[in-house]
Amino acid sequence: MMMAIIGGGYVGLILSACFAKMGHFIMLIDSDSDKVDVINSGRSPTYEPGLDEILSDHIGRNLIATTCYDRIRESDVIFICVGTPPMPNGDTDLTMVVSASRSIGEAIKGSQRYYAIVVKSTVPPGTTENLVKREVLKYSDKSDIGFAMNPEFLREGHAIEDFMHPDRTVIGCNETRTGELIELIYKEFNSPIIKTSIIEAEMIKYASNAMLATKISFSNEIGNICKRLGIDTYSVMKGVGMDHRINPHFLDAGIGFGGSCFPKDVASLIRVAENLGYDPSLLKSVMKVNEQQPKIIVELLHNKLGDIHGKSIAVLGLAFKKDTDDTRGSRAISVIRELERAGAIVKAYDPLACRNACKEISGLKCYSDAQAALKDADACIIMTEWPEFSKLGAEFNLMKSKVIIEGRRISSCSDVEGICW
Ligand code: UDX
Repeated sequence: MMMAIIGGGYVGLILSACFAKMGHFIMLIDSDSDKVDVINSGRSPTYEPGLDEILSDHIGRNLIATTCYDRIRESDVIFICVGTPPMPNGDTDLTMVVSASRSIGEAIKGSQRYYAIVVKSTVPPGTTENLVKREVLKYSDKSDIGFAMNPEFLREGHAIEDFMHPDRTVIGCNETRTGELIELIYKEFNSPIIKTSIIEAEMIKYASNAMLATKISFSNEIGNICKRLGIDTYSVMKGVGMDHRINPHFLDAGIGFGGSCFPKDVASLIRVAENLGYDPSLLKSVMKVNEQQPKIIVELLHNKLGDIHGKSIAVLGLAFKKDTDDTRGSRAISVIRELERAGAIVKAYDPLACRNACKEISGLKCYSDAQAALKDADACIIMTEWPEFSKLGAEFNLMKSKVIIEGRRISSCSDVEGICW
């Protein structure tokens, strides 16, 4: 099938590469010509294990990237994968969704073909029907267009595995022809397909991420209580997770959830509720627990060091989790900001994420390895569960004082204290 993918961000790239690997003909459209050039050279602009290999295998064969919308007229299905970043008050910025919808409309104007327009971006419930459909129909002056919403459930660092082996495929559609066409695309995955209305599919995405974020904040609340009791929260949550109704996943207490999705999607869902006149107190508490975790780890540091003004603190791990260079929503960035506000001197290191972290925190001092960051440091905070940090031991002797706190359960060193353990 000939597909057009609008948006060469994280989701659009994974979709393009995986659909190309499945044998479809893919046209990836992005407004950033530099990004398009990188993709057409067979490389990914963002780090994701296995993505470069797939891109280089298919670029120039059945996958091209372009800034131009013209050739989407030849496609059967058009996926909208543009970003939906948060606005300061938590509402979702749909500027790119509107722009993509209008560009699609203009590009297919006058064509006699039938098109299926599929929203893959995470959007507030009601967006596909009230905004995307309106703009595409208005700018295309066509009526024989189908609309669907097909949310993604991709984890950074595991995206290709999650795409190729989904727990379920959600197809939100309000008419048969488009729903059957999208179902045909996903038929070859041996995973359940659930067909819903468009708005229900939009809500499934929000509710899924909110549920995962709730599990994490719940575990962190239990962890904060267990620490005061002097008991191991990981032992407690292991027992909890063995209940088949709960399951052991996403119960790891620590510094909290980061990333480009959980913080954004929970905040957006809160705003959706408030705009409907409902006060989502549970979701607000999920965010409150998450926002307090970085403060707790800095308090721990104060308790051990006293005034941290002028003290040098090594921060190991800047990415929001291991196996990614992404620092969006990273708890490490929040902790570094708290440390700098208190006048501490931060010595940072991350195997992959230094470049992105320096874009978020100007003047951040990044070191080439953990040892260099630890040398003469008054304290160390481990913020990302990179495997190399679990092997650190003698390196801690390079520090001026061995005050070591971890926000992720990773270290095997006996001198380390955890945020919730
Ligand atoms: C998430 C969802 O998992 C995915 O389905 C959705 O499509 C996009 O958002 P991602 O943001 O890539 O994926 O990361 P994920 O692996 O879910 O972790 C999110 C955050 O939660 C990370 O900061 C991670 O460290 C944290 N986390 C995860 C915990 O603190 N405890 C856990 O038990 C699991």
